[in-house]
Amino acid sequence: MKFGPSVTVRPARHFSGSLRLPGDKSISHRYAMLASIAEGNSRLENYSTGADCASTLRCMRALGVHWERSDADANVIEIEGRGPALKAPSNPLDCGNSGSTMRMLSGILAGQEFSSELFGDESLSRRPMGRIIKPLTEMGAEITASGEDRPPLRISGGNLVGIDYRMPIASAQVKSCILFAGLFAKGPTCVDEPLRTRDHGEVALRAFGAELTRQGNATRITGGQKLHAIDARVPGDLSSAAFFFCAAALFPGSQLVIDTLLMNPTRARLLDILIGLGVSISITQLEEQHGELVGTVRVEGRRLKSAEIAGADSAALIDEIPVLAAIAPFTEQGIRIRDAKELRVKESDRIQAVAVNLRAMGAQVEEHEDGLTIPGSQKLHGAEIDSLGDHRIAMAFAVAALRAEGDTHIQGADAAVISFPAYFEALESLVQR
Ligand code: S3P
Repeated sequence: MKFGPSVTVRPARHFSGSLRLPGDKSISHRYAMLASIAEGNSRLENYSTGADCASTLRCMRALGVHWERSDADANVIEIEGRGPALKAPSNPLDCGNSGSTMRMLSGILAGQEFSSELFGDESLSRRPMGRIIKPLTEMGAEITASGEDRPPLRISGGNLVGIDYRMPIASAQVKSCILFAGLFAKGPTCVDEPLRTRDHGEVALRAFGAELTRQGNATRITGGQKLHAIDARVPGDLSSAAFFFCAAALFPGSQLVIDTLLMNPTRARLLDILIGLGVSISITQLEEQHGELVGTVRVEGRRLKSAEIAGADSAALIDEIPVLAAIAPFTEQGIRIRDAKELRVKESDRIQAVAVNLRAMGAQVEEHEDGLTIPGSQKLHGAEIDSLGDHRIAMAFAVAALRAEGDTHIQGADAAVISFPAYFEALESLVQR
């Protein structure tokens, strides 16, 4: 995918209002995949509007799954589950920009009695796949990649056996991939993660009727379980909300309310970091929907102090670090980020992308192999920003631009379609000048 048009973001005086967000990207992918291999018809409301989740749906259609968008609401997806056996695709499966699609779908394809090929765009073609090839091969799938471990992947599946696997890196995509493959394997499969990562795969498997057990950081699933369809509403995307929370955080006195938002504790670490920075946050109307916590979050901007993100926090905040880094110069004492090497293998090298773009805005930044040190109390000026085709970079710098002096031009801004196509309009609707 190539991303074009530039968006100009003008400085703001204030940022306030209320918002409801499209469905969470991580949950939308998993619901679409599991609904496809479940028995019966599922109805998914508030499905993510992002291009990544549309890539997953397109792949499922190529694998023989019938689904439709509802006439009344295009974000309601009705999926006819095929049960565990998918149809061999007649062409290679296009995962677009979506690492989640490629990695998690590979787990399901490893369990199918046919061969399939998965490819992606330029950015996805650079991303490491060894992390799923190794465990899936141990389970009995045959997988070839380009070079050592890059897409495209060719998977010949079937006849899997359960394994005990200790993941060398903390990755929720890999954990879900292995658990999905475990559904098709003979006997139990156990995945042990070095740090706790988001648990949407486990929560979704349970919602679709599977039994899983967890002991410490190890999750176990037994193969051969049947899934049943569900009717569910996908909670608002917490990683998209992060941009709006951080924008509100930049303007003392601003008030922002986002309702029906995902509040899963494995994703909500951002709220603790914002509270640590000095932001006032309250959560109301908490309820559980299909095992996922959902609530209304009210954020009030205050003077921002400092933050330290390292260790388990870096894994828990992996998608939110770009925007936290983008607001760091406006804090009093800055933000330090370490143990976040995984950021270098996301849709772009996000450590470098943040450093280069912050410097373009006049900020001082120290880049480390595994993070960034960004001093506080800095003044930024408007600049030309290069999204590098990465949605979270384009979106993060639109937030920094609100407090810069002068206009900021974000090149490749339409990368935002990957997770939230209406992002710039939504941001603009909350800005006061
Ligand atoms: C995701 C997990 C994270 C995250 C990605 C979505 C998921 O990746 O960066 O945007 O839905 O499981 P890793 O698990 O590879 O860190």
